[in-house]
Amino acid sequence: MKRIAVMTSGGDSPGMNAAIRAVVRTGIEYGIETYGIQQGYLGLLNGDFHLLTSREVSGILQRGGTILQTARNEEFKTPQGQSKGLRRLNERGMEGLVVIGGDGSLRGALSLHRLGFPVVGVPASIDNDIDGTYMSIGVDTALNTIIEALDRIRDTASSHTRAFIIEVMGRSCGYLALIASILGGAEVVSTPEREIPMEEIARMLTDAYVRGKSHAIAVIAEGVSYSVTELADYLSKSTRVGFDIRLSILGHMQRGGSPSAFDRLLATRMGVKAVEVLRDGQSGMMVGLDGRNVIPVLIEEAVKHTRPINPNYYELARILSQ
Ligand code: ADP
Ligand code: F6P
Repeated sequence: MKRIAVMTSGGDSPGMNAAIRAVVRTGIEYGIETYGIQQGYLGLLNGDFHLLTSREVSGILQRGGTILQTARNEEFKTPQGQSKGLRRLNERGMEGLVVIGGDGSLRGALSLHRLGFPVVGVPASIDNDIDGTYMSIGVDTALNTIIEALDRIRDTASSHTRAFIIEVMGRSCGYLALIASILGGAEVVSTPEREIPMEEIARMLTDAYVRGKSHAIAVIAEGVSYSVTELADYLSKSTRVGFDIRLSILGHMQRGGSPSAFDRLLATRMGVKAVEVLRDGQSGMMVGLDGRNVIPVLIEEAVKHTRPINPNYYELARILSQ
């Protein structure tokens, strides 16, 4: 194997650059040239490839986002788009591809594998919704960012005896909300998997007030069926809730920032493993964290279901919010 390509695709996540760097430098170790594809599948279809030297990946380990940029692309979801992508890879003489991204990006990788092109996926998404790995790249950093925000908000909340509604990312998965609620000491957590009705949230906040708490925090994943503005409005009008209500939507700040030590290590190990798996002649695999080890798992299996949340965390959140 002499020449491979690497891309980042879907939502960016902190640690993607560390993974790119690991792919390029592992390639160099094995005498393989690595080409970066700009903007994911969009760049693939446009033939936007360039050689990544060791110097080009210098100084990126600690940078959030992705130097290759990322994109969403509808054309690549079609069989015609996928065949065009395959043609581009062959025209450039590529012998393998590393796709760094979320479950949609991994589905794209699987389609190329099914067309006979050697592909390995690297799971990167702050949502931690990719099956086949205990953690995806970026989750730990996003959690740290959210916890820092919760700590800051709690300071001001308790100074004013306020309850804060805090919306965190998670369009269809409540992992960030649930874990952040435990680590940030929240009173309430509502996720798409276990949604708490607005009336119940009012009751829980009232209870916290009656118990003498000087503040209360409700962490709401963005994927629940009601909007946080609706919720804040409802709670403000509810005569039972003793707290003054405020709303804070954390938004895309959760996706940016320098990767944590955990994410740098995970991304580095996964990037190295991805090249080794390709070099071993395996395709259609994703590198996943299994306990202490990074191992290849079938992409086909990984994208079958969304990674389920460990239900014990809900119980932990309940006990610790008393
Ligand atoms: P993420 O990778 O973060 O989950 P998306 O779901 O938006 O993000 O997917 C990123 C890109 O991957 C899409 O814009 C599309 O180009 C490609 N993709 C997603 N799903 C498929 C699919 N089923 N088949 C082929 N390509 C796909
Ligand atoms: O997939 C990660 C994620 O952060 C989701 O939690 C969120 O809903 C989504 O991306 C938002 O992405 P964008 O604003 O880039 O479309």
